[in-house]
Formats: sequence, structure tokens, C-alpha cells
Amino acid sequence: MADEQPTRTTISLRPGRLADAKACGRICFEAFGAIAAQHNFPPDFPSADVATDLMTMLLSHPRFFSVVAELDGTVVGSNFLDERSPVAGLGPITVDPKVQNLRIGRRLMQAALDRVTERGLPGVRLLQAAYHGRSLALYTTLGFQPREAIACMQGRPVGASLASYRLRRAVEKDAEACNRVCTFVHGHHRGGEVLDAIKQGTASVVEHEGRITGYATDLAFFAHAVGETNRELMALIGAASAFGGPGILVPVRNAALFQWCLDHGLRVIQVMTLMTVGLYNEPAGAYLPSVLY
Ligand SMILES: CC(C)(COP(=O)(O)OP(=O)(O)OC[C@H]1O[C@@H](n2cnc3c(N)ncnc32)[C@H](O)[C@@H]1OP(=O)(O)O)[C@@H](O)C(=O)NCCC(=O)NCCS
Repeated sequence: MADEQPTRTTISLRPGRLADAKACGRICFEAFGAIAAQHNFPPDFPSADVATDLMTMLLSHPRFFSVVAELDGTVVGSNFLDERSPVAGLGPITVDPKVQNLRIGRRLMQAALDRVTERGLPGVRLLQAAYHGRSLALYTTLGFQPREAIACMQGRPVGASLASYRLRRAVEKDAEACNRVCTFVHGHHRGGEVLDAIKQGTASVVEHEGRITGYATDLAFFAHAVGETNRELMALIGAASAFGGPGILVPVRNAALFQWCLDHGLRVIQVMTLMTVGLYNEPAGAYLPSVLY
């Protein structure tokens, strides 16, 4: 993270601190809002306060790596790496709209990728707004490979249940069974995220024929779900009382599940691209990614 002087200004990177939450939250809100408005899409964050709450959580969580960019001593951007599970999740990355396109984003991305290398993590993933050509180009030139298109979907609660698929709130002793399902689907678990969600009371499990065959950390933009088949995910989506944030993330090439969501009244808000570096296994079952993968 050495300083450099591209022009007459100085851009430097440093670890994030809790005291950065307000500045990073404002930038996050404005950066996503500006890009979305340019493309006539709804903003990802409804207010600077919601973005600041997210930054506060990320900057205080011991298992999130953070990096902040300063331009002449003023915070102008930030990036995060979710290190709660073996495969890391990257983002949100945001740069102040006043100083975008000056390679600050590239440096924030490189810092997170250097961290992946330093920690010897097997892989890293992210979701990218498909309408945003700049981030698509930036991530591709940094080595990210596109894996699949993901529809962010929102709507009224579906209110559907599936016979012989029983849902209940997840408790700590379910974590191992949840990790087994995730390993079946992705080839690795996401145990850190599962434990956080159980503690927060947002996780649920699906039981079928006497065992756990699926779970969701929540039905939300910042949450993931896996199931041995689509039926577990239909049960989870069907029982949700709301879809948090901009919406749930449904892989489009899982045409049966995507169609089921459309048939049950959910609408596409935007399409995103799942991109990865390093370890990536073709999913063996059904899943909904989190926006941090
Ligand atoms: C995405 C974001 C972090 C990038 O930061 P940035 O500082 O503006 O980007 P950089 O200047 O570092 O890099 C942009 C790169 O894309 C290239 N680029 C820009 N538009 C392009 C286009 N339409 N096609 C191809 N390449 C393009 C630039 O030339 C540059 O590449 P270079 O470093 O090889 O010259 C920033 O735009 C942002 O905050 N956006 C809003 C929030 C957001 O979308 N976050 C990402 C969520 S997935």
C-alpha cells in the first residue's frame, strides 16, 4: 500500500477504521446512486444512512478485510473482502463519483486481490451490475471470469408451500448440516456466513424426509441459499415474508427456478454477472448467491 503521485495529487491506501463509516457510507450511497441513475436503474441503497449502517457493520466485523483510498488525505473510496468462509466475497467497492475513472477503483481492487494471495485463499467471487460496462471491464482485466447471469428479483411474498418440505428457523446445531448441503452444491462450505445468520436470527433450514436438504441465511440481497434441488429453494422463497434490499438473486440459467419465480409474481430489477478468480465449481444443486457472492 505505498503512496504514489500520479499527478499533482496523492492517492494512498490504508486499512479501513470504524471512524470511516460515515464518509464511506456517503460515498457508497452516492457512487451506486450515480451509476444507477446514469443507466436509469433504481439505486441499490435507499439512503446514505442505510449505506453507512452497512459500512459500520463491515468496518467492525473482525472477518471482513477493508481498504480505504484517500486523495490528499480525504477518503474517496473503499473496498471489502468477506473472509468468513473459505472462498472470499469481494465488495462493495465504491469510489466517490467526483474522482471516478482515475484508477482508484483499480488500486482498491488490487489491494483486495493481494490480500487473497497473502492469505492463500483458494478463490474469490463477486457480483457485478451487468449494465455497468466500466466495472465489467475493470474486473475482467484483473482476471475475473464471468460465470453466469443472475437476476435480482423483487415482489410481494409468494405465500407458497411445498408438501413434504418443512421449514423452520435455523439454530446453531444445524450449522454442520447446512455446511454439508453447501459443500454438496458448491464444493466448499460458507460456514462463517451461516453462523452469523443463525446468531442474527435470519437463517432458516428446509427438512425433507427427515434431514436438512437446504437452507437460506435470509431471503435478501446480502444473503445466500442452497438446496439439493430446486424444490428446497421454492420452499424457502415461497415462505419468505419479504425479500430484503433490492431483491433475491436468482441464477438465470436455472430456467426452472427463474420461471417459477416469474410465475409467482416476482419481477426482474436488474441482471448481474457472477465473476470469479481461482476456485470455482459448477454448482451441483440449486443456489441463490449473495451480492457479496
Ligand atoms: C466501479 C468503480 C469502483 C470503479 O472505480 P474507478 O476508479 O471509477 O475505476 P478505474 O478508473 O480504476 O478503472 C476503470 C477501468 O475501466 C476502463 N473503462 C471504463 N469504462 C469502460 C468501458 N465502457 N469499456 C471498457 N473499459 C472501460 C477504464 O479505462 C479503466 O481501465 P484502465 O485502468 O485499464 O485504464 C466505480 O466506478 C464506482 O464506484 N462505481 C459505482 C459503484 C459500483 O458500481 N461498484 C461496483 C459494484 S459491482
